[in-house]
Amino acid sequence: ATRTTLVRGGTVVTAEAVFRADVLIRDGIVAAVGDGADWAADDTIDAGGALLLPGGVDAHTHLEYPIDGFTTRTADDFTSGTVAAAHGGTTTVIDFVKKEPDRTLYETFLRRREDARARCVVDFGLHAIVPPRDQQPEIKDDLLRLLDEGVSSWKFFMAYPGTQMVDDAQLLADMTLAAEHGALPMVHAENGHLVAHETRRLVDAGHVAEHHHHAAHPHAAEAEAVHRALTLAEAAGSPLFVVHVSSARAADELARARAAGRPAWGETCPQYLVAAYEDYAGLGERAAGWICSPPIRERANQDALWTHLAAGGLSTVGTDHAGFCLGQPPDLPPQKLREPGWFPGTPNGVPGVEERLALLYHHGVAAGRLALSRFVEITATRPAKLFGLHPRKGTIAAGADADLVVWDPDAHHVLSADTAHSRPDYSLYEGMEVTGRAVHVLSRGDLVVSEGTLLGRPGRGRYLHRTTTARST
Ligand code: URP
Ligand code: ZN
Ligand code: ZN
Ligand code: ZN
Repeated sequence: ATRTTLVRGGTVVTAEAVFRADVLIRDGIVAAVGDGADWAADDTIDAGGALLLPGGVDAHTHLEYPIDGFTTRTADDFTSGTVAAAHGGTTTVIDFVKKEPDRTLYETFLRRREDARARCVVDFGLHAIVPPRDQQPEIKDDLLRLLDEGVSSWKFFMAYPGTQMVDDAQLLADMTLAAEHGALPMVHAENGHLVAHETRRLVDAGHVAEHHHHAAHPHAAEAEAVHRALTLAEAAGSPLFVVHVSSARAADELARARAAGRPAWGETCPQYLVAAYEDYAGLGERAAGWICSPPIRERANQDALWTHLAAGGLSTVGTDHAGFCLGQPPDLPPQKLREPGWFPGTPNGVPGVEERLALLYHHGVAAGRLALSRFVEITATRPAKLFGLHPRKGTIAAGADADLVVWDPDAHHVLSADTAHSRPDYSLYEGMEVTGRAVHVLSRGDLVVSEGTLLGRPGRGRYLHRTTTARST
């Protein structure tokens, strides 16, 4: 039987416009957007003048993600990670497939997709991480099969030599393959050799405490890698997506390429916009909780990222959610402090999938740095377009999935690990008061979170078969 829901009295925000409208949902799809005075439905949600946002699209999460040669994994599984996402107003995540040692990349994908299907509360896609050639010499057939399965974006690490890093020859070859078949190459842009060199120098000088991770990852290592990736993509005739841009210098490189009309886009993350080196430099071992790559940089670096985000030099905000605990839960492999006082041994990554929209709304929209439509564009519409999910995801329009967030722009709340839903036992934003909150969250018409209560069931999230699309700057 057909099921209908009416969301009444909201102010709809899209990447193009802000307008008062009612939204009629039929069987999980938006049926109409407009004046619903005459519409009837099985259920009604009163938006009460709040904002109505398209569900957030976080194109960068690492749930139950193995790192450091499979010696440990991130704390959140597909359930806790997507529960946290849903509470924060994010209804789509795109996670990663990393080749397992005893399986091909394609075999790993099939298994990981089943794991995610069994556990996700909201819809999910998967990017492929392209292994270095020595891990899988024949990769072309797997990449093309993955493309057929909706894995239309392929990620390359320019960092982590010896485990994940691919060289320029492979980047050129695989970006060329991507260009021929319409896949979008993504890069983690840091010069891995330069980071290894700086790490050795710090270790030799005895600077091994957690906060020195920052000095091992200079701005130049990121700016150089972004520039090189742009150069290689241009030679390959390929578009390029640069994940987690942290440095103002790296963002400048991207902005220059975009101003010249190049099909290149950059993502930054809440931790680079809101947190700073000054927050963790004096924390001792607890600074491990702030360690990620590229590192959370000096406070003076933040303004340029906000400016690029508003002006278009940067295009999206994803979280790179890769949460670990500072303590050691008995059911998890070694977490952040497995080698206290030794930054080279600290698992990299920070949590944030739940806080993304609130941090961007508070520090962006409410602070006057981002227009409302730009906020929606960078957190939902643009990632949906770039990763082959638009117009099904990332907007509010007839025919789209009814992924909607009733967002109260005036609700204040205090961010804390105690009240958040992901597993890490600390927050980068502990005690921060923010304005703006997801009150009701719908995924394909299902109310998955309402007034802080989880209603969505693990396993309801669907795998998103993503298309290759013509991409505009
Ligand atoms: O430090 C980070 N970002 N860890 C997650 C894996 C990656 O590099 O994206
Ligand atoms: Zn990365
Ligand atoms: Zn030191
Ligand atoms: Zn990442």
